[in-house]
Amino acid sequence: MSATVEHWAPAGRILDLRRTSTRPALAPAPAGAVSLAMGEPDFPTPPEVVAAAERALRDGHTHYADQSGLPALRAAIADRLPGPAARRSPDEVLVTHGATAALTATIFGMIGPGDRVVIPEPTYSLYADLVTLAGGTVDFVPLDGSLHWDLDRLASALPGAAMVVFSNPANPTGIVHRDDELRALGRLLEGSRTVVVADEAYHRLVYPGYTFRSALEIESLRERTVYVQTFSKTYAMTGWRVGYLAGPAGLVEVAARVHRTMNGSLNTAVQLAALRALELPDTAIEPMLAAYRRRRALVVDELAGAPGLDLTPPEGAFYGFVRYAAEAPASEVTRDLAERGVLVRAGSEYGPSGQGHVRISFAASEPDLRTGIERLREYFAADPM
Ligand SMILES: Cc1ncc(COP(=O)(O)O)c(C=O)c1O
Repeated sequence: MSATVEHWAPAGRILDLRRTSTRPALAPAPAGAVSLAMGEPDFPTPPEVVAAAERALRDGHTHYADQSGLPALRAAIADRLPGPAARRSPDEVLVTHGATAALTATIFGMIGPGDRVVIPEPTYSLYADLVTLAGGTVDFVPLDGSLHWDLDRLASALPGAAMVVFSNPANPTGIVHRDDELRALGRLLEGSRTVVVADEAYHRLVYPGYTFRSALEIESLRERTVYVQTFSKTYAMTGWRVGYLAGPAGLVEVAARVHRTMNGSLNTAVQLAALRALELPDTAIEPMLAAYRRRRALVVDELAGAPGLDLTPPEGAFYGFVRYAAEAPASEVTRDLAERGVLVRAGSEYGPSGQGHVRISFAASEPDLRTGIERLREYFAADPM
């Protein structure tokens, strides 16, 4: 008899995750469909970065690296961290397998049974899954009507929380949390031992008229913040799997212990390529940023006035979080839209308040965006439910 999945008894935490997780397994778009579902840049990695990896391999950089990251890469990251006097030492930086492993190392390092983690939502769905897998308790706090933080609700939820996690610029809402919001969070946490995890994966994707502030630039947050960053989005390097975290030495030491236990050291040639990416002038990424600006304008224009649909214009990242008037749950709407040839993500994937929304990604070509949005409009116009 061949063993089936049911034959084996998974760990209790996996059963918890199966029960609570809203993250779909991603599949490629079927023929004829356009995908506005992926949070993945559709540009190639800059050629200088690819060349650096090739050179590293030819030069024999094919062995284990320092488990916290190559010292030269950590030093380059430390030099470039945001914040006024935030010149951290390389010991306060950990190179990780993408932002995913930075978040994993931080959450597994600090959270266990009995620990409550405040997660303003809708937000990137990995955070809640990691907390569940670590045995902690997820405390979702809905955003306000403008998709910014609801400070009153946060004031009630934060006392006693072990951690608060957010993305800024935010996935899936496209919101850039303002300087005054970040300062208010700092005030709410005064005197507490709550750790802040600031996932700033989209920091270079901020649209004209909006100002991005890193949590490391906010004095009242800096000393309690684990800053999470990745090469995936800025440099179109999703497949390279390289990111990092930075924070107070004690927190970094804890995360480093988890990371080397779960992951071991990171591919040496990839780290040398990441170092090359950091050294690139802004002109290397500006064409990508310009394309996202054009696409954002296209999305805002194409959705303006669409009956039954409402989009808060994206302030950063490459997502439009579209509210629809119809009653149907987002999972059903997403399935229907896939049948009509456009893949999007259900807003409910990002937390209970994401119900009634779909997320579209504009990390997709302009023709795909036009086709996808047209199908979206047709669906809601024809079938408002
Ligand atoms: C907010 C946010 N953080 C982290 C990640 C994962 O980044 P990485 O590819 O570096 O693991 C994503 C990917 O979509 C994201 O949207």
